Amino acid sequence: MAETDKMEKIVSLCKRRGFVFQGSDIYGGMAGMYDFGPYGAELLNNLKRAWWKEHVQRREDYFGIDSAIFKDPKVWEASGHTSGFSDPLSECKNCNTRIRVDKELEKIGVTADEKMSEEEINALFDEHKGEIKCPSCGKKEFSPVRAFNLLVKTNMGDFTGEDSEAVYLPGEACQGIYLNFKNIVDSTRAKVPFGIAQIGKAFRNEISPRNFLFRTRELEQADTQYFVRPNENKEKYEEIKKSRFDWYIKMGIREENLRWKQHDNLVFYASDAWDIEYNFPSYGFDELEGIHDRTDYDLSQHSEFSGVDLSYMDPQTGEKYIPWVLETSVGLGRMFLAFLSDAYTEDEIGGEKRTVLKLSKELAPIKVAVFPLLKNKPDLVAKAREVFDLLKEDMMCEFDDNGNIGKRYRRQDEIGTPYCVTIDFDTLEDDTVTVRDRDTGEQERVKIEVLKDRLR
Ligand code: GAP
Repeated sequence: MAETDKMEKIVSLCKRRGFVFQGSDIYGGMAGMYDFGPYGAELLNNLKRAWWKEHVQRREDYFGIDSAIFKDPKVWEASGHTSGFSDPLSECKNCNTRIRVDKELEKIGVTADEKMSEEEINALFDEHKGEIKCPSCGKKEFSPVRAFNLLVKTNMGDFTGEDSEAVYLPGEACQGIYLNFKNIVDSTRAKVPFGIAQIGKAFRNEISPRNFLFRTRELEQADTQYFVRPNENKEKYEEIKKSRFDWYIKMGIREENLRWKQHDNLVFYASDAWDIEYNFPSYGFDELEGIHDRTDYDLSQHSEFSGVDLSYMDPQTGEKYIPWVLETSVGLGRMFLAFLSDAYTEDEIGGEKRTVLKLSKELAPIKVAVFPLLKNKPDLVAKAREVFDLLKEDMMCEFDDNGNIGKRYRRQDEIGTPYCVTIDFDTLEDDTVTVRDRDTGEQERVKIEVLKDRLR
């Protein structure tokens, strides 16, 4: 299967089977916005649950939080986002299409450093403009480059109608973690080194949202910030990097589709940064998750701007310092797309072609589908309902009595359901059902009284 075809097929499956819809679809769609449908919401929740289990439930040195979206405007000044969170933008002089200059330069093998001044990036762009075509009209005439700030402004709390201090939506979710660092130290038994984990929304005025869920204007980020003693970052950074890479493999991503990339040019807050890249169908390896060494930048900035001392006092030694921060940050949309892409398979089973999502059982939106063999036999339907009711308390199930059994299997394969349970005439005699395995197609008779345990 060609990689471009695969991406098209995934996007089409997402819409057809209710995983993902274009945001504001009935109004013509809104760029960079997506809504998750019934199976998509299940998969998304399963990804969040698996991530939370890894970073909070299993760990005694991590604390989970959920912070408010709206934050004091000074937060974004302190974090550096009002001044430094921008992308270089230029406009096509012919059709006014906006391009992200660093990404267009990257396509022709030229790196634009994030720390370049407007003057420097203009000079670099001038040098290479002749090699860059407008993605809409193909012309090569562009306006000078200007820094375009990505923060999304709101009028929250502005009751005067005058231009009072702007309240922004979060440019990155993790700021809520720094704001609560002191609250966690004061209210729990957290002792450095320890981590805080959060899944939160972020919003970015992306110049060119693209590639389905890959670059959106509204996103959700799963973040951890690990606080360590100054200069005790190196070893822990390597350990955290490895554990994040291994997690993807453990959850079912094929290792050959993952790789590391160190940043050549660092964002304003980082002293070292690595990306875990995933081999996305049609556009290849690109950033899935960022792992950043942020030193004491964030807590120092918030101490200065808030006037609250965010240094940590070691209870044993009395030593006082601003902890350094090691961050992991992944967009749930990208994670969703990576898992879906890796699971998407076309194969043949029993001489029949099928599409199957080989998602791990933990991630599959529906764990078990329950079928009565025939929908016009009340005894079979009643027994199937009984089995469905028995299972649905423990796992996400679906009842399906529509069409022949083969078609029902295909429908469940396509959404990744690991097991299908069929209630037939033998069930009425001996209380056994057929359990069919998604990956092998093998079928087994199982007693209803042990079914729940077997499926678990
Ligand atoms: N707190 C650090 C931070 O926000 P980032 O590299 O800008 O760092 C972290 O973002 C992760 O968030 C990325 O690796 C990616 O998975 C996701 N992400 C960033 N911008 C995104 C966008 N516009 N659409 C979807 N996901 C995005």
